[in-house]
Amino acid sequence: MKSYPKSEALYQKAVEYIPGGVSRNTVFHKPHPHYAAEAKGCFVKDVDGTERIDFANNMASLIHGHAHPAIVEAVTEQLKKGTAYTLATEAEVRLAELLHNRVKEFEKIRFVNSGTEAVMAMIKASRAFTGKPKIAKAEGAYHGTYDFAEVSQTSNPFNWGDRNSPNSVALAEGTPQSVLDNVIVFPYNDVERTIAILDSHADELACVIIDPVPHRVGLLEGKHEFIEALHKWTRRNDALLVFDEVVTFRVNYGGAQERYAVKPDLTALGKIIGGGFPVGALAGRADIMEVLDPRQQKLKFPHSGTFSANPITMTAGRVAMELFDQQAVDDLNALTKKAIVQIENVIRLADVPISITGAGSMFRIHFRSAAPQTYREAYQRPAVYAVINELLDYLFYKENLIMINTCACMFSTALTQNEVDRLSQALLNGFRFIRPKLEELYTQHVNYH
Ligand SMILES: Cc1ncc(COP(=O)(O)O)c(C=O)c1O
Repeated sequence: MKSYPKSEALYQKAVEYIPGGVSRNTVFHKPHPHYAAEAKGCFVKDVDGTERIDFANNMASLIHGHAHPAIVEAVTEQLKKGTAYTLATEAEVRLAELLHNRVKEFEKIRFVNSGTEAVMAMIKASRAFTGKPKIAKAEGAYHGTYDFAEVSQTSNPFNWGDRNSPNSVALAEGTPQSVLDNVIVFPYNDVERTIAILDSHADELACVIIDPVPHRVGLLEGKHEFIEALHKWTRRNDALLVFDEVVTFRVNYGGAQERYAVKPDLTALGKIIGGGFPVGALAGRADIMEVLDPRQQKLKFPHSGTFSANPITMTAGRVAMELFDQQAVDDLNALTKKAIVQIENVIRLADVPISITGAGSMFRIHFRSAAPQTYREAYQRPAVYAVINELLDYLFYKENLIMINTCACMFSTALTQNEVDRLSQALLNGFRFIRPKLEELYTQHVNYH
């Protein structure tokens, strides 16, 4: 294998100071991570000089790829004027107005610095508004790293329990039992089981949190009847229906929520609305958002943050979202749809037990012949993961492509049909490369469901 001496040397130094050498496990890679030197559009060059096509876009956050000239220009202007003040800025008002005009249900908006913070603020606002302690979330759904949001994020066959009432499983060692007791877990898209589970905690639930296209659950769209049933249940039980659209806001002009007849009470945002800078936001019903309003006689949810709504992020975010207008959304989704059709073709050509799910500008490749319908179906045993990693390494080292480690792609407007063709051809080569390994695996049948 080609060597990457500069990345290797940086990693040797990194492990001296940083646990595992990385500040986010996402970029960890054996034998060593690769270090980026520069990027433009859909291309990223590492410090050893290899250029790759980027289909991950910093985990779905760079909707226009890298270093878009209009964003660079606007941020450069703002940089010269200062990066953060102990004063509010016009930049935050402009981004709030833009998002409000984009989604009328975003009656009020608060900015924070990450999706994790946005989800945390959404949960705390729900508790403050309803006066109730518990939340309900889908098994396998990723909502960032707040204790309560992390529960059952990576449940597995050895701890997930009965599907009629899934266990609340801690992610981090040392998570207090009280956290687990306050998080109710349900199977995504399963109306009957979910409503039965919610019913048994009806008096205590502040909110039901839903990612409308949960990546880790399988990148499956929430079914209309599921979302509508949750909406109805929350109305009946004085609870809130809240959406995590940190990733899925890219799916339509008005986010993934645009396609539903019913709307969430609150929405957590992040990723693309920061134009490439750290961001999060909480948006929704004005009467609920009052819990954050310092003018209230009784402030129910005191909230601050040193870099919240900093003008660099706000400026980059506004320009990025102005550029991501209805036409840009439609064009990007059309390109992604073409990619999915091409990959479905490639799956047939390579004759492999693989399937694909997706929505808007995102898709995920699954190592089973029928697309999964649930988290438990999407779950892959470690032996399959080893083959997935072999495919990802093949794509990274031999084909010079970057994908997300679940074998997912999150497109940017910098991509064109050329890159989609490169991806299809690379996947055909990659599927043929892993085919014998997959065959071997599937002779050892394991049924977890
Ligand atoms: C659906 C979802 N919610 C929340 C988060 C957390 O966002 P951040 O990494 O900005 O804290 C993520 C991050 O990937 C996410 O995918």
